[in-house]
Amino acid sequence: MRIAGWSRATPAEAPPLAALFQRAEAVAPVDMEQRAEDVRNRLATLGPDGAGRTRVGRDDTDTVVAYGEVADMGTAGDVLRIRLTKVFHPDIADDVRAELHHWLIDQAKQLRVDRGSAQAVLGTRCAENDPTGRELLIRDGFALVRHERHLVLTVPDAPPAPVLPPGLVLTPVDERYDELARLAHNEAYADNPAAVRPDQRTWPQHATGHPRFLPDLSCLMLAEAHQGDNPVAAFLYALAHGSTDTPTAILHCLGTRAPWRRSGLATAMISRVLHRARAAGIRQLRLQVTDSNDPALALYRKLGFVESGRGFAVLMRQLTPGADEQP
Ligand SMILES: CC(C)(COP(=O)(O)OP(=O)(O)OC[C@H]1O[C@@H](n2cnc3c(N)ncnc32)[C@H](O)[C@@H]1OP(=O)(O)O)[C@@H](O)C(=O)NCCC(=O)NCCS
Repeated sequence: MRIAGWSRATPAEAPPLAALFQRAEAVAPVDMEQRAEDVRNRLATLGPDGAGRTRVGRDDTDTVVAYGEVADMGTAGDVLRIRLTKVFHPDIADDVRAELHHWLIDQAKQLRVDRGSAQAVLGTRCAENDPTGRELLIRDGFALVRHERHLVLTVPDAPPAPVLPPGLVLTPVDERYDELARLAHNEAYADNPAAVRPDQRTWPQHATGHPRFLPDLSCLMLAEAHQGDNPVAAFLYALAHGSTDTPTAILHCLGTRAPWRRSGLATAMISRVLHRARAAGIRQLRLQVTDSNDPALALYRKLGFVESGRGFAVLMRQLTPGADEQP
């Protein structure tokens, strides 16, 4: 299968893109959106200048058979993080895959220059059962950095009540704590080299400004007599999933700052989610977790989460001026 023409993605193309994602996901899952509404939201999170960094390929019957996207995931320690996404119809020709890959790399180089970043790191997903895609990436200097597991939990009929340690309160996500929550997030994920640590510019799209943000299920854990300036001891941000027949919520990011760990905070926040999910008719929770994140895997296992079989690999590559491009 070949491409008759490429164009930028527009919101109007969300339905054919969702159809492509469904087709691709059935063969090589990387947890792409399955509904037009969710694809539209995905395009919206790319920001006002994001459309230029998308590419939609159609075959000679005008069917959408390929999609590429370059997304700015924020800057951490002066390094810009860029996510590359490629989705293909299962019958696409190998040279189309390679062509789109090289287009994405060129767009990523341009994004790094536009953002004025000295260095960028490129990250991309590859289905566990896609050796062709993985070989292409490895030939181009990408290295396998981790496997992401995909876990699910059926919301129980009678979830356990949240138990809070003394001096801590659970509160809905409140805009007054937005910046403190961002700092708490980045501190909690500081030891995780794979984690996105959003800056002030990209935090909204990661958290409350995400188009599928679920305020009722998200929460902060505040320490009443807190150490230092930041009372946010733990946080949980949930998103609507919506792409399945079963009403589902995603635990998008969740963390406890180091001084408060192993005190039951994450367990309490997830209990709160389960109660609220139950009341809202949500039947299932889903999340992704890196397979090397033993504390988180232990937490989720203890709470009854199980693997869905939709995990994928993550590969990364540096993009440094001079090494492989002109600044
Ligand atoms: C994973 C994380 C959220 C756990 O938060 P927490 O508030 O410490 O978790 P809890 O106190 O509720 O722990 C509940 C259970 O999880 C398991 N667990 C949590 N941390 C663990 C660890 N470091 N080692 C082994 N088991 C652990 C234990 O079974 C624990 O029960 P126990 O203390 O009675 O043995 C926290 O370590 C963290 O913020 N990590 C960095 C961010 C992150 O990785 N988030 C998850 C992304 S998917």
